[in-house]
Amino acid sequence: MNDRVSMHPALAAYRHRWIVIARTADVPAGHLFHGRLLGEELAVWRNNAGHINVWENRCPHRGVRLTIGSHLGDQLQCRYHGWRYATGSGGCVHIPAHPNETPPARIGVKVFRALERSGFIWASTEEPSSEPASIAHLPADHHPLRSAIMRAPAEVVAAALLRHAFAPAGGTAQRIDPLTVVVRHATGQETLRWLIQPSTVDTSIVYGVHAATVGGAWLEAAQQLNASLQSLRSTIEAQT
Ligand code: FES
Repeated sequence: MNDRVSMHPALAAYRHRWIVIARTADVPAGHLFHGRLLGEELAVWRNNAGHINVWENRCPHRGVRLTIGSHLGDQLQCRYHGWRYATGSGGCVHIPAHPNETPPARIGVKVFRALERSGFIWASTEEPSSEPASIAHLPADHHPLRSAIMRAPAEVVAAALLRHAFAPAGGTAQRIDPLTVVVRHATGQETLRWLIQPSTVDTSIVYGVHAATVGGAWLEAAQQLNASLQSLRSTIEAQT
C-alpha cells in the first residue's frame, strides 16, 4: 500500500508545466515504469498501439501501487484484487468479485496529461498553460545523455547547471524556463540542453540532450558530458 502525498508548497509552482518524466527508452512495450513527479508517484506504461499512459501509481480500490500489477495490453490490472483499468481514460472496466457487472463510471485511476516527443515522455499534474519551449525547440538531430538523480531541489540543480562549464560542449548557458538550461556556441547553435524533473521537493532528475552535429566524435563527447554531470552531482550533493 502507498500513502497519498500532498504536494509540497515549493513544488506547486511547477503544477501547470509540462515536465519530462522519462526517456522513451525507459518505457518499452509491456513495461510498467515507476516514476515520480512533484511528489506524486506515477505508473507509466504504453498500450499495444504505443499510446503512453501516465497515471497516479495508486489503485482507487485500496491504494496498492499499480506498477506491481500486470500489463494486459490495453488494460492494467491491479495485483491485489484484480481490478482492471483501461488505457486512455483510466476507467475501471472489470472487477473480478462482480464479473457480470459493469463497474460504476466513477471508479477510475487518476490520469495525468502526457506527451511523447523527441525521445522523452512529458507530463503535467494539472492543466498545462502551454507547450513549453523545452519541447518545441529540441534540436532536430540530438542524442539523449544518461539521466542523473540528484539529491537536491530543482532550483538548486538549475542554478548549478547554469554555472557549470560542460566541456566539450562549451558555449554560453541560458535558462529558457525554470526547468530547462540550454548551452549555445557563439554562433547561436545549440550544443547542449538540460531538462530537470523535480521528483520530490529535495530530489531531481536531470536529462541531457546533446546536439549530434557538434564535434563529430559523438561517443567520446557523450562520455565526457556524462562524467561531467556525475562530477556536478557530487558537488551539488556535498553542498546541500
Ligand atoms: S487494491 Fe487494487 S484491486 Fe483492490
